[in-house]
Amino acid sequence: MTILGIESSCDETGVAVVEDGRRLLSNAVLSQIDLHREFGGIVPEVAARSHLEGIIPTCQKALADAGLDWSQIDGIGVTYGAGLAGSLLIGALTAQTLAIVKDKPLFACNHVEGHVYANFLIESTGLDVCAKPPDFPLLALIVSGKHSQLVLFEDHFNYRLLGQAIDDAIGEAFDKIARLLGLPYPGGPSIAKLALEGNEKAFAFPKARLNNRFDFSFSGLKTAVLRQSQHLAGGDHRLSSLEVADSLPDQARADLAASFQMAAVETVVDKTVIAYEEYRPASVVIAGGVACNLELRRLLNERLPLEMIYAPPSLCTDNGAMIACLACHQVMRSRPPVDPYSLTINPSLSM
Ligand code: KG4
Ligand code: ZN
Repeated sequence: MTILGIESSCDETGVAVVEDGRRLLSNAVLSQIDLHREFGGIVPEVAARSHLEGIIPTCQKALADAGLDWSQIDGIGVTYGAGLAGSLLIGALTAQTLAIVKDKPLFACNHVEGHVYANFLIESTGLDVCAKPPDFPLLALIVSGKHSQLVLFEDHFNYRLLGQAIDDAIGEAFDKIARLLGLPYPGGPSIAKLALEGNEKAFAFPKARLNNRFDFSFSGLKTAVLRQSQHLAGGDHRLSSLEVADSLPDQARADLAASFQMAAVETVVDKTVIAYEEYRPASVVIAGGVACNLELRRLLNERLPLEMIYAPPSLCTDNGAMIACLACHQVMRSRPPVDPYSLTINPSLSM
């Protein structure tokens, strides 16, 4: 069974082909990073227009790379939420149209669930995949630009949300602190790179304590980094965050990046360890763009007693492969397709 997956919820147009929920045949991604960099973040209208221009060529590339034609595709999976409305619409309308014209069943996929399913891709000829699949019960730490969540899966499609961000997502915090420090978008990789030159113990930034021990909050950390940066830049709380970077000495910027990264990463690792001890899952996976962070991977390896299997970075950031994989598992568990004439997007879809 071969599924074509379409992902367009944010700023990557991703289309991929996956066989049997485990074998990755192609993974075409058209990145918009260069388009949004000059604005320092994602501009929704620019993202939607770029998806519109790129989605059909990206579908064609995914099929060509897999060496398949439409007659060999058994179904289509598409992200219908959560994400930017304009961006989601382009992917959904494309998938709906293709499902009707090519007469294929259509499967609606939750973007955040999709991130977890990237970890089930374990076979490929030539593309990076995971070394082995996770076992259930499965604890998933989902850390992206829009989500920070801890989810316990008893089995496929049987899961419980243990905790989530009550304000900014961790990736959003990386992106905003990067902007404060004058680093290019996307902020996560920029902070990680600069942090290598800094001292993570230079500043002891706070880690939020919340009523639900599995919830996350990064707004206090963000404010603490802003205040420390204003102070090091020679100003007080009135100094605009847009002006801070210009007055910061290079070593201070690196120390701020390293200390922020450590506090953010420790926050999610602490909670993952507590959840592991309480629920004793058979596997722990991390998913979403922030899962690329090497400090996060190092610390989890150090603190968790089980062998961690990490997805390659190409499967952590947004991609069509995770959506195709999730749709395959829907088919394998006899979950029904949706009506292509009535699928509607849901920008605020939750787990
Ligand atoms: O999953 P993703 O591609 O898109 C969303 O669904 O949000 O995640 C993007 C996020 C961005 O906030 C980006 O800064 C962050 O992932 N990110 C990283 C790293 N690479 C990407 N954060 C920390 N360290 C990284 N190496
Ligand atoms: Zn994502």
